[in-house]
Amino acid sequence: MIHVHVTTWFLTLVLFFVAVYLLRANKQKPLKIIQMVLRLLYLLVLGTGLHLLAAYYQFQGAANIKALVGLWVIFCMEFILTRGSKGKPTKIFWIQLVISLVLVFVYGYGILG
Ligand code: HEM
Repeated sequence: MIHVHVTTWFLTLVLFFVAVYLLRANKQKPLKIIQMVLRLLYLLVLGTGLHLLAAYYQFQGAANIKALVGLWVIFCMEFILTRGSKGKPTKIFWIQLVISLVLVFVYGYGILG
């Protein structure tokens, strides 16, 4: 299950940056499609993450914080894309995305291994 989690969050990150490129290039139609695929991927990341949390950690300890930080990453990506496509400022969410991404890797690979 860890492989499915890693594969899905990796794909999510790649597609997020594709979406940011499309947003900046003002390509609305392909952006909408990528956003839909991304939402499906968010659910898969969440589902696999929750499974790991339940099956391997029984909702105990630092893995809970890892999960919350993972959710935070997803919220930032979603806010950047939805606010960005409405022309609203996204800087505060970019800052949060950087912080949450650093934390998710510190927890995922550093603390939990
Ligand atoms: C885009 C968002 C996310 C990213 C980038 C991410 C990243 C990671 C990374 C790097 C690992 C370590 C993989 C490894 O040890 O090989 C991991 C594991 C894990 N993730 Fe996520 N994750 C995300 C979202 C979530 C969510 C939403 C949840 C739960 C609701 C979650 C729960 C977990 C759990 C429980 C583990 C197992 C910890 C471990 O044994 O290392 N993750 N994730």
